Amino acid sequence: MGRSTPTTSPSASTERFVTLPYDGRVTKRYLVRTFGCQMNEHDSERIAGLLEADGMEPATDAEHADVIVLNTCCIRENADNKLYGTLGHLKSLKDRNPDLEIMVGGCLAQKDRELIAERAPHVDVVFGTHNVGRAATLLAESRLHGQQVEIVEAGELADYEAFPSALPIRREVDHSAWVVIQIGCDNSCAFCIVPAVRGPEVSRPFEALVAEVEQLAAQGVTEVTLLGQNVNSYGRDLARDARRAGEQVALAPRFAELLRAVGAVEGIRRVRYTSPHPKDLRPETITAMAETEAVCEHLHLPLQSGSDSILAAMHRGYTAERYLERLAAARSRIADLAVTTDIIVGFPGETDEDFEATLEVAAAADYDSAYTFIYSPRPGTEAAELADRFVDHEVAVARMERLRAVVERSSLRHNQARIGRVEEVLVEGPSKKNPDVLTGRTRQNKLVHFAAAPIRRGSYALVTVTDAGLSSLRGELLEVTAPARHRTRIPVATA
Ligand code: 5AD
Ligand code: SF4
Repeated sequence: MGRSTPTTSPSASTERFVTLPYDGRVTKRYLVRTFGCQMNEHDSERIAGLLEADGMEPATDAEHADVIVLNTCCIRENADNKLYGTLGHLKSLKDRNPDLEIMVGGCLAQKDRELIAERAPHVDVVFGTHNVGRAATLLAESRLHGQQVEIVEAGELADYEAFPSALPIRREVDHSAWVVIQIGCDNSCAFCIVPAVRGPEVSRPFEALVAEVEQLAAQGVTEVTLLGQNVNSYGRDLARDARRAGEQVALAPRFAELLRAVGAVEGIRRVRYTSPHPKDLRPETITAMAETEAVCEHLHLPLQSGSDSILAAMHRGYTAERYLERLAAARSRIADLAVTTDIIVGFPGETDEDFEATLEVAAAADYDSAYTFIYSPRPGTEAAELADRFVDHEVAVARMERLRAVVERSSLRHNQARIGRVEEVLVEGPSKKNPDVLTGRTRQNKLVHFAAAPIRRGSYALVTVTDAGLSSLRGELLEVTAPARHRTRIPVATA
């Protein structure tokens, strides 16, 4: 591969798939590795779908892959470290197998494309979040010209490029699917890189989403997770555009309506979503959750901090009191609601007092579990400029430990409270550690392990909870209530 790095500008190409110039040996094998959030994992499924549509097959590991795609995320710092570490490893693999092709995609790739190209000249293609739809085309282009190809501009995009959900997909799980309802974010949280890399909020049309869920249900999918950076404002941009075009439509977001419509699709038994912004969590969303049977009793409501002054510095748009009020309202409407959250420790300027407030709010919120992060500056964000107020790493680590202890107390209490109850579990398959034990998830998204003869994954079963730990429950199978309906893909061996 040459070292030059032409930047290819995207065209609104009508060409959707290209035939890769195969060398006639065997079917090429690909591997997609994801470093990041659910949105990224979803993009990875799309990339896999595109490569399969081009005739490739999944590889079992990097050693047996002809094409390796690293799909990155830049929300938290350790993603970069992992990426560069992996790229180092792949360099030695490529030294041994010069035909290996390496692609780096996702939002870190979008942000740091020059750095990646420079630090890792052995990478063949660098592409951004808006260019997932062109993954296979870009690979062909790089092969054709023997050069590294970089592409990260949004440019004028065809629909299927702007909304990766319209692309072919190879789902990792056949009974459960992610559906992107919105990309980008109109907020400006001081710590967050998302608005810079994903752009402003753009919602997918309501009817297209419902049609996609209907199609998934027809394939036997019974669980869907609606994804967006700020799901509660879903549809606001569509209404704005319709008004500009002269239509008389209400400007209100349509997320509650979407929950109801998706929940009403025949065959869909579970609807989940992530993430709502606490400032935009509207009463009608809670009502829709309460009234739509398929919507699971689980709310992921990112707190970020319990200190009002830190929340203000983060531009979160709510106070701790307001957050707790919204949570109480949700709990009062939805019986048996599990609540999870994201919390950042060590935001610039966070004092001991601010942190104590976070501990108090976390205790009051009584979470089922929490993702806790040590603040890491993302270049280009507002908070990254506050270097003189950065919190010492050791202080942040010590705070994190204390926060974890608070969350663990409530996690354990919530889990133990389920002992003796009968839970509906969506079976995910044999446990990683012990093939005689099956795992599944309850509607509250709790992991349950139970001993049983194999049950096809995607089936629903009733399980009596017999024991509870910090991160999972144990149980005994009562009965299978609904066998899986999806078709299982049979791998086709090629000569
Ligand atoms: N540092 C630490 N955590 C962050 N998050 C987002 N940006 C940062 C950052 N710069 C966390 C937030 C968000 C979750 C997805 O990642 O808690 O909700
Ligand atoms: Fe980032 Fe805030 Fe938007 Fe979430 S709401 S994606 S944290 S800017």
